[in-house]
Amino acid sequence: MRLTWLLALSLSVCAQNPLNDPENPVAGDVAAIETGRKTFVNSCAACHGANGEGGRGPALKEGRVIRRSSDFQMFTTIRKGVAGTDMPGSNLPDDQLWQLVAFVRSLASPAAETPVSGDSVKGERVYAANGCSACHMISGRGGSLGPDLSNAGGMRSYDYLRESVVKPAERVSQGYAKVVVKMRDGRSLEGTARNYSNYDLQLQSRDGKLYLLNSSDIADATVSVQTYMPLDYGKKIARDDLINLLAFLSKQSARPVELKKNSDLQRRGR
Ligand code: HEC
Ligand code: HEC
Repeated sequence: MRLTWLLALSLSVCAQNPLNDPENPVAGDVAAIETGRKTFVNSCAACHGANGEGGRGPALKEGRVIRRSSDFQMFTTIRKGVAGTDMPGSNLPDDQLWQLVAFVRSLASPAAETPVSGDSVKGERVYAANGCSACHMISGRGGSLGPDLSNAGGMRSYDYLRESVVKPAERVSQGYAKVVVKMRDGRSLEGTARNYSNYDLQLQSRDGKLYLLNSSDIADATVSVQTYMPLDYGKKIARDDLINLLAFLSKQSARPVELKKNSDLQRRGR
């Protein structure tokens, strides 16, 4: 049996500023946020929760202190820890700390709480015209090849949503990478790898059917970091339409939307 899980991740983390610069060189960078998320799961989630919801340490989503501190102050908190509390210091290299800061920031401002300039009613039409609902569900309607977007604005930052639409290949949502499987009996299957371990693989085919495949029945399987999401929306959707579409996506939230009134919040989508 040959079973290869091939993960070809390409992450572009750009550092334009010197690392000692108090500004975060990767602020808002989607790839950096994703890398930060992984570091966070390994080093911080035990106390702050996998999604920063809190536990032994405080929730990092709406932390008052977090909102008021600068990126560099947060960087320093994570590096040095907080004396007299459970919050330990960290000896991770600077670039990983900045990624963590970018990640924690992305938690603090889901798109639903970020003022946007688009028109969500027009955005809904853009959504319909581009066939998004063939693969995405909102409030129980639509396809399931891609993630449910009912809480997209409540869960994702504005930048994350924009990048997902215009550069989908750069960051593939967990549980939705493309997988191609050859079975020992000669059949082959293709779909998204919803879940996998050394023993089994849960595959969802394009028509929405779920298959639980045992690794002993699999001759060869490749999970690649590729997406079924069309790659050309960045070119196809005109700028104003995109801004309206993002306003529509930002509005999708499981919780009632309450816009932040902080004066330091910029309007997004300009
Ligand atoms: C052993 C538990 C623990 C671990 C591990 C931990 N933290 Fe904390 N963290 C805490 C506690 C407790 C506090 C609250 C400190 C205080 O009372 O000021 C805190 C505070 C913070 C704050 C400041 C929150 C605020 O509102 O100002 C940030 C940011 C933070 N942690 C990020 C991280 C990151 C990033 C990591 C991983 C590198 C991490 N923490 C690992 C327990 C932990
Ligand atoms: C042919 C199927 C397909 C179509 C059509 C499609 N998507 Fe996707 N989309 C996906 C898949 C699969 C993913 C998950 C993999 C990834 O991250 O690219 C995804 C991911 C996303 C995400 C990220 C969700 C998250 O929480 O991580 C957003 C946002 C999104 N799509 C929006 C749209 C919008 C808006 C449209 C229409 C303009 C659209 N999609 C059209 C398949 C599709």
